[in-house]
Amino acid sequence: MVKKRACVFISGTGSNLRSIIKSSRDYNFPINICLVISNNKKARGIIFAKKFSIPYLVITNKYSFEKNAVKILAEKKIELICLAGFMKILSKKFIRDFKGKIINIHPSLLPRYKGLNTFQRVLKSKEKFTGCTVHFVNEKLDNGKIIVKNKILIGNKDSVQTLKKKVQIQEYKSYSIAIRKIFSSY
Ligand code: GRF
Repeated sequence: MVKKRACVFISGTGSNLRSIIKSSRDYNFPINICLVISNNKKARGIIFAKKFSIPYLVITNKYSFEKNAVKILAEKKIELICLAGFMKILSKKFIRDFKGKIINIHPSLLPRYKGLNTFQRVLKSKEKFTGCTVHFVNEKLDNGKIIVKNKILIGNKDSVQTLKKKVQIQEYKSYSIAIRKIFSSY
């Protein structure tokens, strides 16, 4: 199997990055992580790029971020961009140019609870379930075609922290399932 060449965009902890890298070590997994780009030089996730010897680039200038990213994405022949806790909004042009090639993970059952602070809002609304969604990125926030959704039950005692932990465990599984699903028809 010829693996597709993928890049992960991060801004923070990078636990989803770590999980995708680990999945990609499986010879059967459809992608290799060939590049990590962070828009935050303090992102803890950079450590995983280093640990697994994956080339990485930090681009902090918000005006030149996309121009620099496009250049290296072309150099590295990247075919899929995985957003994983990437906190910068990409321009419509960038999204159009990479149509069908950018995916994101969101900590709610989309289309419910788009945007930030999902756990606070889910708890405030006294939901019984929440979860995570992996979706293609389109020009509207958290709105593209859904690839995989996974549900978890909310307990009476759940807080933002416990919910986040539970949802993140689902995220790690869901991201890898979504990536396999995208390429399963090849
Ligand atoms: C994840 O919970 C994801 O749903 C959201 O940002 C968080 C990133 O976590 N988009 P990490 O950086 O992968 O640990």
